[in-house]
Amino acid sequence: MSRSRTGSAAPPSRRRTALLAACTLMAATGATATALTAQAGAAAPGCRVDYQVTNQWSTGFGANVTVTNTGDPVSAWTLEWTYAGNQRIGQAWNATATQSGAVVTARNAPYNGSLATGASASFGFNASYSGTNAVPTTFKLNGVTCNGVPDPGPGPTDPPPPTGSRVDNPYAGAKVYVNPEWSAKAAAEPGGSRISNQPTGVWLDRIAAINGVNGGMGLRAHLDEALRQKGTGELAIQLVIYNLPGRDCAALASNGELGPTEIEKYRTQYIDPIATILADPKYAGLRIVTTVEIDSLPNLVTNVSPRATATPNCDVMKANGNYIKGVGYALNKLGAIGNVYNYVDAGHHGWLGWDDNFGPSAELFKQAATSEGSTVSKVHGFIVNTANYSALKEDHFKIEDSVNGVSVRQSKWVDWNRYTDELSYAQAMRAKLVSLGFDQNLGMLIDTSRNGWGGTARPAGPGATTNVDTYVNGGRYDRRIHLGNWCNQAGAGLGERPKAAPAAGIDAYVWMKPPGESDGSSSQIPNDEGKGFDRMCDPTYTGNARNGNSMSGALPNSPVAGHWFSAQFQELMKNAHPAL
Ligand code: GLC
Repeated sequence: MSRSRTGSAAPPSRRRTALLAACTLMAATGATATALTAQAGAAAPGCRVDYQVTNQWSTGFGANVTVTNTGDPVSAWTLEWTYAGNQRIGQAWNATATQSGAVVTARNAPYNGSLATGASASFGFNASYSGTNAVPTTFKLNGVTCNGVPDPGPGPTDPPPPTGSRVDNPYAGAKVYVNPEWSAKAAAEPGGSRISNQPTGVWLDRIAAINGVNGGMGLRAHLDEALRQKGTGELAIQLVIYNLPGRDCAALASNGELGPTEIEKYRTQYIDPIATILADPKYAGLRIVTTVEIDSLPNLVTNVSPRATATPNCDVMKANGNYIKGVGYALNKLGAIGNVYNYVDAGHHGWLGWDDNFGPSAELFKQAATSEGSTVSKVHGFIVNTANYSALKEDHFKIEDSVNGVSVRQSKWVDWNRYTDELSYAQAMRAKLVSLGFDQNLGMLIDTSRNGWGGTARPAGPGATTNVDTYVNGGRYDRRIHLGNWCNQAGAGLGERPKAAPAAGIDAYVWMKPPGESDGSSSQIPNDEGKGFDRMCDPTYTGNARNGNSMSGALPNSPVAGHWFSAQFQELMKNAHPAL
């Protein structure tokens, strides 16, 4: 007999080449420009664009554009170009066209999105202009440039990059990128050199991160360094795509720069530029792991009305659909690049492990993965426990156990959850997703950066069988006050070191959250990143519906989310399990 949990747990948080087919501009005579494909090798993306001004008068013109897909089949297309002059697009037909400054984005109409290799779609528009009506010379199809310098193809000594054929597990047989910026901070801590050579995630947590925040490394700098670390072997670099409109709707600590409605900015100023860089043929030999939008979709299941855990902001994000659209857009765009491996955030067991959260979340992941032109084939896997503290494996109690006839599921700690740890949750979620139509070979990642729970408080055996609560509480590694606590948890330690293929269905244990980076500030701290103050990061807070009205369990004196938190870094090392 299981009671259906209605206000379930817990927020979140911290909770989640292909050669670029170079298309050479061949002709721009008069009012016609044609970009031709110069295909090098077996490229995945490729395109040819014919832009024709069909009539023109002193203040306006009409144009017809034909885009030909010379790469792998696509189920949706976005064509972009930039005007050199002051042209403004008006009415369009057979496509929807929007313009932001000089940049025009034309998206397929519902009936002409699907383009097989070699197939074309045409659309037209009217526009205004004054002065010169120069024909645009550069086009991008689904983020990949159709013109520019033709790729010379592999040099005489270079091995051909893996074009379009992803490996099953990008971590297998590969080094993983060590972020020099995190590494330097870790190494500067007493004892930090024991872990400063570990790979951690590179968080693209705002638009400015693409070029580098305050002179820091931007995306190209990381990829260039990744090529250097790679040498002649294989290397995976882990990027976190984390900038949705209305980000972190159930909490305040990691609110971001984009307001709830700014989906177009997300597309054109965040995802598109990232996709352009990742599609650079220079990086075709890297295995680029993208973990997509931590803590977003599950919020639309657990933290919306009519549940007691609802927040107004999550209701807004559910109603406007911008989480779904953003995730779909990101998956579609990034997944079109042959050496990118998309992993979608799937929360953690202490958030989605209840029956009324588990299935609906999996369905929602499918909905997002099939929106905005994306398909399930654009998803390589899922990541769980990102920046959370849920134990990898609880050895001293199992979900099937009972004490005096009372199931472990009825203990206060488990509270009817189906899972006791992340490994069992990840494997079950994987099976559920495959049953919904995701790839049979779906791989899971588990963030083990801070779920070690070692040190002196770690139980050596099961709890007393006085009752089910003494049994579970005495035996559990996870020492949190409540499973729904997520901010800078006192007593936590580093978990399993990053490792490829550690268990069935698991592509890797990873440190996606860089240890030592705060989950949020313990008091209000003004900042220019959009980060708020969430009382779940205040050790004196007595909680809310999302953590069973428990104390927050947070460490004191923490800085803004993402900022270096030396005291936490030291405690994570002290309580590491396996020990350092
Ligand atoms: C939090 C912060 C973000 C940071 C990330 C990794 O989510 O909001 O800015 O990059 O943690 O530490």
